[in-house]
Amino acid sequence: MTTTQIAILGAGIFVKTQYVPRLSEISDIVSVKFIWSRSEESAKSAVEIARKHFGGVEAVWGDQGLDRIINDDSILGVAVVLAGQFQVDISLKLLKAGKHVLQEKPAAASISEIEKALSGYNSIRANVRGQPIWAVAENYRFEPAFVESKKLMAEIGDMMSVQVIVEGSMNSSNPYFSSSWRRNFTGGFILDMGVHFIAGLRMLVGCEVVSASATTCHVDKTLPPPDIISSNFQLENGCSGVFVMVVSSRSSKIFWRVVGLKGTIQIERGNQNGRQGYTVLYYTADGQCKSFFYPFSGVTDEFKTFIHDIQEAKKGNGHEVEPRLSYIEGARDVALLEAMMESGSKNGALVHVKKF
Ligand SMILES: *[C@@H]1O[C@H](CO)[C@@H](O)[C@H](O)[C@H]1NC(C)=O
Ligand SMILES: *[C@@H]1O[C@H](CO)[C@@H](O)[C@H](O)[C@H]1NC(C)=O
Repeated sequence: MTTTQIAILGAGIFVKTQYVPRLSEISDIVSVKFIWSRSEESAKSAVEIARKHFGGVEAVWGDQGLDRIINDDSILGVAVVLAGQFQVDISLKLLKAGKHVLQEKPAAASISEIEKALSGYNSIRANVRGQPIWAVAENYRFEPAFVESKKLMAEIGDMMSVQVIVEGSMNSSNPYFSSSWRRNFTGGFILDMGVHFIAGLRMLVGCEVVSASATTCHVDKTLPPPDIISSNFQLENGCSGVFVMVVSSRSSKIFWRVVGLKGTIQIERGNQNGRQGYTVLYYTADGQCKSFFYPFSGVTDEFKTFIHDIQEAKKGNGHEVEPRLSYIEGARDVALLEAMMESGSKNGALVHVKKF
């Protein structure tokens, strides 16, 4: 079996601490040929780390470096791991050149950018040979805790209530705390971090949120506004729920809980035997509680799926991308958060979520 060659655009913290090590775990199917950054220094610093796993990896930078990737026919896919403000434009440029793209979340900075992205992509799909895939990397949709809990949802009967509570820990010890693009992004950390929790919510309940009402605040002035959101929302199945997110707290806690007529399911971030992951609690109709622990593996699983999809697409049989990777799923996460933030800016007025 031959390995699929890819390039990575971006050389920041997430590339160094997640992309390179997680891709190295699947180096039997994928090989990183280039790492690109705007600056030479930063491209080289990431390549230094990647070289331990991918001997032939080369640093490329600037417009010329990008052209090299675009013109290299051996590069089947490109991972775009850049500042949120630039990802859509650069992804569209690569797609137009026929490359498959795995873009980091958030799918876009706003609903208006999503609209521009989708119209650009539709015309590329119609005109560019090979119908390049545009995937959004949202690892929560691949976390085994969510995959397994989703299967249990049928057991808890009609949904009565949904709770998503996030007490984050985005303080000065966090490597992303001083990230300048996240501080110059409408919605700040609420959007950048929040899309993960919304993705988890949408995956678990298996239906869309139709409307939301929210209060947003700015209390911790070391963070960009808003840093707190309290929202209630309605699902298309009629059930209601709450979404509460505090970007930085002293009491780290993250859970999703769905209460049904015949039982309850809760997914909570935690660790077991030194491994980070999620504990799933399943309260059954007879009042028992079963507990399961699933270590993180969402990033690796989403990479495997993307590589599989682009290998299949290469065979030219009109391969459809795995729905959990599709651009539209990432767009829906952004649309819901934007609705919540819009409501926050309108003193809690009910806002209908834009449908994509
Ligand atoms: C940041 O949060 C983490 C986790 O809650 C905590 O261990 C750490 O002490 C905090 N650092 C600061 C500077 O507040
Ligand atoms: C912040 O974002 C705006 C609009 O995207 C951009 O023009 C500006 O250069 C950015 N500033 C910084 C410091 O990144």
